[in-house]
Amino acid sequence: MAPSYVLAIDQGTTSTRAILFDKDGQPRAMEQQEFPQYYPQPGWTEHDPLEILRSAIECSEGAMKKVGASKDDIAGIGITNQRETTVAWDKGTGEPLCRAIVWLDLRTSDTAAQLEAKGGKDRFRKKTGLPVSTYFSAVKMKWMLDNVPEVRKAADEGRCCFGTIESWIIYKLTGGPNGGVHVTDVSNASRYMLMNINSCTWDEAVCSELGIPVTALPTIRSNSEVYGKVSSVPSLQGLAISGALGDQHAALLGHGCLDVGTSKNTYGTGCFMLLNTGGDAVPSKHGLLTTIGYQLGPEEKVTYALEGSVACAGRVVQWLRDNLGIISSSKDVETLAGKVEDTGGLTLVPAFSGLFAPHWRDDARAVAVGMTLFTSKEHMCRAALESTAFQAVDIMEAMKQDTGLRLRDMRVDGGMTVNSLLMQMQADILGMSVLRSKLAEATALGAALAAGLSVGFYEKKVVKDIIEKAGGYEVFPSSTTPAARRKMMQRWKDAVERSFDLAK
Ligand code: G3P
Repeated sequence: MAPSYVLAIDQGTTSTRAILFDKDGQPRAMEQQEFPQYYPQPGWTEHDPLEILRSAIECSEGAMKKVGASKDDIAGIGITNQRETTVAWDKGTGEPLCRAIVWLDLRTSDTAAQLEAKGGKDRFRKKTGLPVSTYFSAVKMKWMLDNVPEVRKAADEGRCCFGTIESWIIYKLTGGPNGGVHVTDVSNASRYMLMNINSCTWDEAVCSELGIPVTALPTIRSNSEVYGKVSSVPSLQGLAISGALGDQHAALLGHGCLDVGTSKNTYGTGCFMLLNTGGDAVPSKHGLLTTIGYQLGPEEKVTYALEGSVACAGRVVQWLRDNLGIISSSKDVETLAGKVEDTGGLTLVPAFSGLFAPHWRDDARAVAVGMTLFTSKEHMCRAALESTAFQAVDIMEAMKQDTGLRLRDMRVDGGMTVNSLLMQMQADILGMSVLRSKLAEATALGAALAAGLSVGFYEKKVVKDIIEKAGGYEVFPSSTTPAARRKMMQRWKDAVERSFDLAK
């Protein structure tokens, strides 16, 4: 019997999901698990690589159980993941050398500042497409080499392997120390700040400037090819791992943004807008990142993208729930924010992990500006939602300036987009329509498509059909005047200025 599914593993910042997609690109079974976050010091965020691996395996088995599927029913596995989060492991034992440093962790701010002091924030931008920031994997690797004796020793002895989350999962599933492959895909590799964005190879000069041994880095492969077969998990034994992409790149593909000028904005822990720029790696002068869109096969051309990354979006809502306790579940934020007409003069800049695009200020910290004794939890909820919308407008403006394109609407997906109040606020502050995708699983679908293409489960020519069948949009039209929008944006810009220089 021919296989009926592709298995997509979506390993995100706060949870792992596994979804089985059928031939029509429809999700047939899903299993999700949250996993522990570790905050050992203020500004630090860590994940346990073994807990992540376990969640990926258990979610895969859980999804298979739901539809009574065995490994024989699966054509291939696609992996999509939180990007930049960095794992170091020992080649000899296959075990992690320390916990993974998560993408929004701020411990590397001194490392980033030292790198910046030597040649400016944009010293690697021409080669890598990225500014110096705590965000990217190379800075985390450097911090590990300088601060974790086990990593330094393993590197000196040629035993250290570095990788992002997909790299770690592929290595472990394909056998770990017993023949596991050490690879990364080109989209994840484009977030290390070590890859030459034009040649898609590790840039030896940048690696040596940061003191990162090229031998510790994974081999860069395309997003759609067989990297290896599972050999360490009986329930998945022999299955081809046939696709991998960073989560935002997978969402670009899963959204069907295959033409130049198409874009998507995903609201998750952070908020990430990617614009397809085709075969050109467009340099940014307005604080965006030049990154890989996707490469659907080793012989295929690379499609590039411009990206605006926002560190805190859904995370702000979690903060209201977990740290302030003013809501008991994330969905309450919409109800409370809807009880007031505006924020009562309050503006929240959620620079909890500094500010990413377009500012790239690791020294920024969150501020709440304009509170009076009138300020209530309802105002705080509304200001939290508004802050996400303001940040997305900053990105959209930078995209227009960098490309000169007339972008007419914003296509959105991700957890926070269930919030209709936020979607309307977004359209109003943006001054253009917001199109909410009906496709809940764009990220996982992107991984399934990449994995299915390389094993012949999907054909390239039907990819657009699959996306169209699965998709469609709900429209939120903008209802504000340009003058009202200018006033709102000025309030936001003033508040952002106040968030700078607050880190010691
Ligand atoms: O760059 C970080 C990003 O990939 C994380 O995505 O969905 O886990 O917030 P998410």
